[in-house]
Amino acid sequence: MKKVLSILLASLLVIGVLGACAKKEDGGKKKVLTMGTSADYKPYEYVDSAKSDQIIGFDVDVAKYIGKELGYEIKITDMDFNGLLTAMEAKKVDFVMAGMTPTEKRKKNADFTDIYFVAKNLVISKNGAIQKVEDLKGKTVGVQTGSIQEGKAKDMQKTTDFKITDRSRIPELFEELKAGRVDAIIVEDTVAKGYLTKLTELKSIEIPEAAEEAGSAIAFPKGSKETAEFNKVIKKMKENGEMEKLTKKWFGGEQ
Ligand code: ARG
Repeated sequence: MKKVLSILLASLLVIGVLGACAKKEDGGKKKVLTMGTSADYKPYEYVDSAKSDQIIGFDVDVAKYIGKELGYEIKITDMDFNGLLTAMEAKKVDFVMAGMTPTEKRKKNADFTDIYFVAKNLVISKNGAIQKVEDLKGKTVGVQTGSIQEGKAKDMQKTTDFKITDRSRIPELFEELKAGRVDAIIVEDTVAKGYLTKLTELKSIEIPEAAEEAGSAIAFPKGSKETAEFNKVIKKMKENGEMEKLTKKWFGGEQ
């Protein structure tokens, strides 16, 4: 009985080990890479719940194209934006793609690919209450937790005195603004666009800043070989028109 048990245990172990290897190399079948994202960021990544529960968007299309080129199957895991890099460090996801900007702070714990898309940040308020950054004085400003917009707001606080409040999901920010619980929110233009066309009482101003400050790149664990592989395909996509095609499809215009 003891012997049977130990054989059983041993074979379970083998299966376990094989299972673990399957992630990277499983004899002919595609290698799976798990992408961590925060699917609250239309048109980068979101769920169109009227149609399906699939996560779709610009990032998803770019990731799939890269995956196809390199022979990876891409699986997507959704979580709050603020937990993405930690989940990657804990090996819960293989890479992070979430319209994420490669800041100096984030670069301490992750390697980033080249920037694949550049956007701008907006200050959005009801009925155009905020006409310039200085109008934020004494007001409450909402941002997504852990986003560069949060960092941006902290920067702006150095010259203009206002209060920052953070929420984990973008739709919550718009709810708070509509309900008047915050006076303004800071959101990227591409993501805000969809809300601004629907919620016509909301008006926006652009925050003057350098283009690289709001660009998106893909994050990998430090030292990953995939960073260079992905960069090659990103370069190719910029050259062969694929990036432009996807930009038009999801953002409705060229950069
Ligand atoms: N670009 C900003 C950043 O890196 C915001 C990204 C938010 N992404 C998301 N999927 N919610 O902080």
